Amino acid sequence: PVPSQASSDGFLQCLREKLPSELVFEQGSSSFTTVLVSSIRNPKFFTNTTVRPLCIVTPTDATHVQAAVRCGRWHGVRLRVRSGGHDYEGLSYRSARFEVFGVVDLAKLRTVSVDRFESTAWVDSGATVGELYYTIAKNNPRLGFPSGVCSTIGVGGHFSGGAIGMMMRKHGLSIDKVIDAKLVNANGDLLDRAGMGEDLFWAIRGGGGESFGIVLSWKVQLVHVPSIVTVFNIGKALDQGTVEILTKWQEVGPSVTDDLTIRVIVQRDQALFQALFLGTCRLLAVTMRSKFPELNMTTADCHSMTWLESAAFINSGNTDVEALLSRNTSLSTFTKNKSDYVRTAISKLDWSNIISWFEMNAAGMIILEPHGGFMGTVPAAATPYPHRNGVLFNIQYIVFWQGDGTATTTWLANFYELMGKHVSNNTREAYVNYRDLDIGQNVVVGDVSTFDGGKVWGEQYFMSNFERLASVKAAVDPTDYFRNEQSIPPLLQGQ
Ligand code: FDA
Repeated sequence: PVPSQASSDGFLQCLREKLPSELVFEQGSSSFTTVLVSSIRNPKFFTNTTVRPLCIVTPTDATHVQAAVRCGRWHGVRLRVRSGGHDYEGLSYRSARFEVFGVVDLAKLRTVSVDRFESTAWVDSGATVGELYYTIAKNNPRLGFPSGVCSTIGVGGHFSGGAIGMMMRKHGLSIDKVIDAKLVNANGDLLDRAGMGEDLFWAIRGGGGESFGIVLSWKVQLVHVPSIVTVFNIGKALDQGTVEILTKWQEVGPSVTDDLTIRVIVQRDQALFQALFLGTCRLLAVTMRSKFPELNMTTADCHSMTWLESAAFINSGNTDVEALLSRNTSLSTFTKNKSDYVRTAISKLDWSNIISWFEMNAAGMIILEPHGGFMGTVPAAATPYPHRNGVLFNIQYIVFWQGDGTATTTWLANFYELMGKHVSNNTREAYVNYRDLDIGQNVVVGDVSTFDGGKVWGEQYFMSNFERLASVKAAVDPTDYFRNEQSIPPLLQGQ
């Protein structure tokens, strides 16, 4: 049942008693909107009709998180957790349905501690990926970490869904390098890997945010990076043999040396081939000449730099590493995202049809991210992220707009429908971190999300790992306290 006024009053009273007052922002407080909006990126989820939280708690310590969970449980008020606020559907700070809930915002818990001798780090969920990269490289420029491209993504949500990026072909997803974690469960207990057990530790590494508790920090194994890496950005006009180049890229991108990742961004009249090579310009040019001559890459295309500079460069086009520490977000542009995976190469003819769609909508974009390499060596059940061996690349669809977005979102829906026949569609695979509520939402019966309702979207994100995730959920949170529109439902006896 929706918590009554009485239970939400009791919840707020409990927070007032258990937490320092400066860490709790109730709806009526003067700073509430500033705190709420601090990491919102999409104006779609900041309107007069958005279902907003009753309050926002901004913990500075694990005990504050534990107290917030206990107050929520005692008074029947759910909590949503926000780290970087980049959720494509805004589920960390708004509800798609009417609901009374509180938000635990982890932005103040953002320490990164690097152990140079062990080559490991503990990173708090409220840190951004940019802060993580910066702190690692400032400790030791020969160490790095495989994670996402955008520097403001929060570690908490990002790692919860897997985290793909420019080094995944060499080192895998962020979750492949997580070796311990600290989590507050639905009883308010603080658990590390040994305390939570291997099933729950498996589930939090890729099973999607919110479902299993609040992950406070992650211990990660760092990776070695060369002192100099090489980056290129080569743009090809869509009418300049790009169809042939894209067709060839599908073969090269996933199979070339795992030191090289070439992703492709298609927008308007251009395909941009963007690469990170963990080696020198000379070796890259030799590799490109022999494996991918169609792109005509030469040493003149090389930008040589440190790995940290490459993280800044690929994100923003310049090597200002201090910019990786900026947490600024803007509320100016509306977006909608979807995703697919491709396991069988798309034909030349189909590519010509696909790229013709970009003439119709200048605000549409796809990003193609090659898998293969290390990704193909990890069994599909090793972590909840199932899109491993056999995946050539994934597709992220993005549309941007200002003002009325009807035309552009209709374009996206039609384009996605057309793409259905070109992508992996036995189960139409999707990436949980590119969250998309159009593929399904939980069905709640008797105040618990149903397994069958969850399967609709859950098997797209997790394929055959969905059932194991639902079993773990039943073991650790059978009453479905940690819930949102796409949280893992508990697989209860008899279902
Ligand atoms: P946010 O705080 O909104 O949380 C996302 C989800 O996780 C919510 O359901 C939330 O409740 C839950 N959650 C958050 N913190 C948690 C915690 N500590 N414990 C448990 N649950 C928690 N992805 C990618 O793989 N590679 C990339 O390169 C990019 N690039 C990119 C660019 C931009 C501009 C955006 C907006 C997004 C991406 N993404 C991405 C997608 C990104 O990985 C995804 O949105 C993450 O969930 C964001 O994590 P945040 O902590 O920022 O989000």
